Order: sequence, then C-alpha cells, then structure tokens
Amino acid sequence: MCARLLLNSDDRFVMEDPGYLMARHVFAANGAAAVPIPVDVDGMDTEQLAKTEARLAYVTPSHQFPLGGVMPIARRHQLLAWARKFDAYVIEDDYDSEYRYDTKPVPPLHALAASQDVIYLGTVSKTLSPTLRIGYLVVPSQLQSLFAAAKQIMDRHTPLIEQEALATMFETGAYDRHVRRVRRRNGERRQVLLDALRRRFGDRVQIDGAAAGLHVVVWFRDLPQTSEAALIEAARVKGVGIYPVAPLFHPHPSRRQRPDVIGLVMGYAALEARQIERGCQLLAQAVDQLRSRRLS
Ligand SMILES: Cc1ncc(COP(=O)(O)O)c(C=O)c1O
Repeated sequence: MCARLLLNSDDRFVMEDPGYLMARHVFAANGAAAVPIPVDVDGMDTEQLAKTEARLAYVTPSHQFPLGGVMPIARRHQLLAWARKFDAYVIEDDYDSEYRYDTKPVPPLHALAASQDVIYLGTVSKTLSPTLRIGYLVVPSQLQSLFAAAKQIMDRHTPLIEQEALATMFETGAYDRHVRRVRRRNGERRQVLLDALRRRFGDRVQIDGAAAGLHVVVWFRDLPQTSEAALIEAARVKGVGIYPVAPLFHPHPSRRQRPDVIGLVMGYAALEARQIERGCQLLAQAVDQLRSRRLS
C-alpha cells in the first residue's frame, strides 16, 4: 500500500544497504529507484543520508534487517530531520520488536515524530504465524482516509474471522501472555545458538545483531566470500540450510560495501535447542571440510 500510494514511477526511495529484499522489490516494482544507504552496527548511517533527496525511506530501526543494529536516538532524530527537510515519508518497519534481550527500548520513530511523516508497520508474523498474513499500519492522520479507501479497493479487506480471533486475543490478554511465553522460549534458543557458535567456532566468527530479534548474523573471519557457494553446498549435503547475507546487499557494483568474508543470517526461533546444537555441529564439519580443501 505504501509503495502504491506514496511512490510514483520516477521517484526515488531510500533503502538500508544491506536491507530487506522483499521491501526493495515491492517499492521497485512500481518503477521507483532505490538509493542504498550503508548500514553499520547502529543501523542506517544517517550522516550519509544528508544530501539524498528521495520521496520516502524504508528503515528497520528497532532491529536492522539483516545486520541487527538498534538505531540510537541521535540517528533517529537525524532521520526525522531529513524527512522534514525533503518532505519525505519514513516507513518504520517494526517487524520483530517484541523480542529484545540485552538492550533498553528506544522510542520508535513514530512516537518521536511530532510531524506527520512516519508510517509505522507491525506484523503478527513473528509472534503468531506468518501464514496468518496479518499486519498493521499506523498512518499519520492526513493519510488515514486515503489508506482506508485504498485497502478496500485493493483486496476488499483482510479476512474478518482471523481479525476477530486476534481482537479477542488482545482483549483477553491471551496475546500478551503468548508473546511473553515465546519471548522466553526464543531467548533460550538464542542462548543455545550463541553458546554453540562460540564452542564450535570460537574467535573465528564475529556475531552481530544478537541483542534483539529472532536471528543473528555470523561472519566467518577466515572464509573468503568466494567460497560461499562451496559452503552452502557442503552444508546442504549434511542437511543444513544456510542463508548468506551477500544477496541482501545492493547489487550496484560502485556502491558495493559487502565484506569479503562469508556472512550467514541464522534464525533460531523455529528450531528446537537440540536442532540448533546439531545444526552447528554439522555446519562446523562443513566449514572444516572447506578449510582443509582450501589448504590442500
Ligand atoms: C524486515 C522484515 N519486515 C517484515 C517482515 C514480515 O513480513 P510479513 O508481515 O509480510 O510476514 C519480515 C519477515 O521476515 C522481515 O524480515
């Protein structure tokens, strides 16, 4: 809806680099051009945004996807100042902020923005199930009737039975209890993954983005990017599916800021502790195979 209602085909939109591919594809499908802005451990580097003129910016400030940084308050203000300067909208995708482990919450952009330029997105995909296909938007008041009318034209509404069931969960407190329970369970799974990675790989890996969310990014310091396909295949043969970070970087060669070592996005929420342990063991075997092949 944001792509269709807020972007014309000759507009530019700002994306985090690396960032969420699905969002880039949806915005680009309208013919708009992505302007990639590099990401570091604190999320989008808003300094580099300063001179960029664009119609909107899509960001994941509470847990940058995929690198996992939590955007500090100063950058949030800088981003909002940019939006005001260029009369742009900021799409704040708060896709997994129910899961925070070692960090204090930072106010969302939409709570900071006195002006009317932030559209806040949430989803129940990470709390209940992605198969429900239910999410929500909080739009500035001047856009409410436009979005409501467009929703009706686009799909004549999200199924009511699921919405009513969800409303009952909210009203009875069942949703909050459920989120607290899965947060505890996911926190335990996260710890199992972090311990297993440390035990199997020690200092040979750098782990980013563990403070929140449902995944971490693991950089293998001594495995060059060029051996990524071989590692994916070696892991696949052992029954382990791995997901590299590399495709999430903007493809434009002149802007390439991708590290030259292998990085993997590792989600832990859908796996039980023993599967995580076993997966890391098999991955370590695949990595050893690759290393010995490179040395021989
Ligand atoms: C960055 C990001 N935003 C949003 C979503 C959720 O999308 P949906 O609500 O369409 O399931 C995901 C799911 O993986 C995601 O990674």
